[in-house]
Amino acid sequence: MYPKRFGFFLGVFVFLLEIEKNLCVVSDFDEYIDEDFNARDSKQYWPKPGLVRFAQSVCTTQEGYLGTCLTRRQCTYIDGSQSGSCTSNGVGRCCLVQRTCGESSAYNNTYFSSANYPVTFNGDTTCSFTIEPCPNTCQARIDFLNFVLAQPDGNGNCVDDSMVVTGSGGNVPIICGDNSGQHIYVTFMNNNSITITVTTSASVDLERSYNFLVTQIACDCPTLAPAGCLQYYTALTGTVRSFNYGTQINGAVVTYDNATTVAGTRQLANTNYGICVYMQPGYCSIQWAQSADSTSFTVTNNTALVEVVSGLPADPATGFSCTTDYVVIPNPVYVNGTAVNTDRFCGNQFNTVVTSSKPFVLTTVTDASELTSGDVANRGFSLTYTQLACRNVNSLLMLTG
Ligand SMILES: *[C@@H]1O[C@H](CO)[C@@H](O)[C@H](O)[C@H]1NC(C)=O
Ligand SMILES: *[C@@H]1O[C@H](CO)[C@@H](O)[C@H](O)[C@H]1NC(C)=O
Ligand SMILES: *[C@@H]1O[C@H](CO)[C@@H](O)[C@H](O)[C@H]1NC(C)=O
Ligand SMILES: *[C@@H]1O[C@H](CO)[C@@H](O)[C@H](O)[C@H]1NC(C)=O
Ligand SMILES: *[C@@H]1O[C@H](CO)[C@@H](O)[C@H](O)[C@H]1NC(C)=O
Repeated sequence: MYPKRFGFFLGVFVFLLEIEKNLCVVSDFDEYIDEDFNARDSKQYWPKPGLVRFAQSVCTTQEGYLGTCLTRRQCTYIDGSQSGSCTSNGVGRCCLVQRTCGESSAYNNTYFSSANYPVTFNGDTTCSFTIEPCPNTCQARIDFLNFVLAQPDGNGNCVDDSMVVTGSGGNVPIICGDNSGQHIYVTFMNNNSITITVTTSASVDLERSYNFLVTQIACDCPTLAPAGCLQYYTALTGTVRSFNYGTQINGAVVTYDNATTVAGTRQLANTNYGICVYMQPGYCSIQWAQSADSTSFTVTNNTALVEVVSGLPADPATGFSCTTDYVVIPNPVYVNGTAVNTDRFCGNQFNTVVTSSKPFVLTTVTDASELTSGDVANRGFSLTYTQLACRNVNSLLMLTG
């Protein structure tokens, strides 16, 4: 008799557990307060469970990760790990959700990482994570807290290692190389899940690791990225980099038909996406400039030929010269006030420009191969942006009083 009843209760328990795992916000604190605390003679502190309800707010774990404030039992139910308290009465535990290969999550602020992260790995692996949308959620932001994969081949194609995103609306390029600190926005389509697949190849001997933070963004949230923006920046100033941007040369070499070999590119092939900047109130235009390092804008042509040890290579190109790889900035004006008269920039130098076109967006395009276009040792770009206050509006206000 007893074992049978036990089995029945076990069944109900597992069923509840399954439901819980599909919810974004763990429902109903009150259900669990009993289980968490009545057994520990806590009636004197908690006469009515309802009185200790607390918000499932974002908290910071002892290790500095983002978590959600839950009870111990709720955290166990969602396969989270507890780290520190998040309510003054000690009932709330900061619950960290970490997932690895083959796993999925419908929870906001989930960390997806390589197996045994931060321990590195080497060799042939394939690893997939699935992001399930929360109700009324339109996008997710994926922060590459750590992203170390093999470099692309000399043509910029991710042939050995790659990160591929499937199920997202919009254009998500295949990404490889060094991308720690980068991020992407992905868009849920018809409430379907989005999968990230990371593949590595034993043909490259490299210690790799990755750790991504996935933040879900509700459809009515002001921090949604505008359509077409794979990356979205909101600060007044910042630095944007092409994927796998780095000052070091790519070790891969390109061999021409005549058997001459040249240095490969770090710039990734087959990309076409928007890098957007949220226009802060009171700011009307944006200035784009290349970063200080000597390879900070090396997008086409033979960078090895124009590269100098210090200072910037002097080889800017605009307009019709830019047909393979380039960045697009709408309606730009040089800082001396001269209109550029084209929106395309390439070559090995970027002269500072300002634009008042809204929304603030820089589009980056690369073609399928560097070899055919004579592009050698390109690193991509690192550009700084600065939002500029609405001077005209201010002077108008001063005039009118
Ligand atoms: C979207 O999917 C989630 C879980 O997969 C579900 O809870 C939610 O009700 C769905 N929303 C819509 C609008 O279909
Ligand atoms: C997810 O958490 C972030 C804070 O990390 C918050 O800004 C965002 O609104 C949350 N998303 C949802 C869908 O609740
Ligand atoms: C080999 O081919 C490349 C690309 O066409 C050319 O730039 C280079 O000058 C050639 N080298 C020799 C030694 O012919
Ligand atoms: C303005 O600056 C651009 C880029 O440095 C330069 O090409 C152009 O000749 C300058 N125009 C004038 C009028 O000085
Ligand atoms: C590439 O380099 C050649 C030779 O230095 C130059 O004539 C050409 O304008 C450059 N093209 C671009 C797009 O920078």
